[in-house]
Amino acid sequence: MDAIVNGVKLHYEVHGRGSSVLFIHGFPLSGELWQACIEPMKNDYRLIIPDLRGHGQSEASEQASMGRYADDLRALLDEVGERNPVVVVGHSMGGYVAFEFFRRYPELVQGLVLTNTRGVADTEEGRQGRYDTAERVRREGSQVVAESMSKKLFASNAPGELVSHWREVMAATPPEGVAAALHAMAERPDSTETLEDFSRPLLILAGEEDTITPPADAEAMSEAAVGSELLVISGAGHMLPIEQPQQFVAQLEQFLDSMSDPDVHGSWTRWG
Ligand code: MLT
Repeated sequence: MDAIVNGVKLHYEVHGRGSSVLFIHGFPLSGELWQACIEPMKNDYRLIIPDLRGHGQSEASEQASMGRYADDLRALLDEVGERNPVVVVGHSMGGYVAFEFFRRYPELVQGLVLTNTRGVADTEEGRQGRYDTAERVRREGSQVVAESMSKKLFASNAPGELVSHWREVMAATPPEGVAAALHAMAERPDSTETLEDFSRPLLILAGEEDTITPPADAEAMSEAAVGSELLVISGAGHMLPIEQPQQFVAQLEQFLDSMSDPDVHGSWTRWG
């Protein structure tokens, strides 16, 4: 389905019924990242799965920021008639968007699942690297990022077809969307304080072989967020939801189930 939000056409899918879960994919990927969640979860939950602006089948804009992505998602929740707080699941850049979504719309966030992401901002060198890459992408196309990232996304034993499929997904992302996302990531704030203040249910997942956001990043987030739950999954790199789909879904469902258990999550029992 498509909706016009904040001046761009946003593509999204909604599956199932029940308490809502909003899934935010990473860079430069698409909602397809969450495909393994749909069948096993749709009988119990309402899954809201957008393509961020400039990604997948959503329209690109010249500029993007974590705030703009977050505002798009806020508008999308209105569009799909969502009136209750949701659990937000963010992968990598989707985690950066989730932090901003929580800072802007805390009343809409019931809990958070962060997979393959980090809380800290870029270093000065990292930021400059993103600006340089954005320039190259504008000149030479998204292939630049597709080639370099496809070598780093997966654990060493990932099937070749998986790697080539996702290389194609990244290469098909509009250069304008890729460049805008690189700027948005470079300019994102540090979210350590957000984690320190986040007193709601929080699950942090990491891939043992993730070299983009290594388990140490997940550990740092978990140390900042008292009461969070941290799991490092073996046989997975940066694409944990794709590489270990059964484990990912099992952990997610267990976390969602526990949210309606007052013994586990104290006062956060309105959901479910
Ligand atoms: C992502 O996978 O979303 C990005 O690679 C994260 C990043 O570059 O910081």
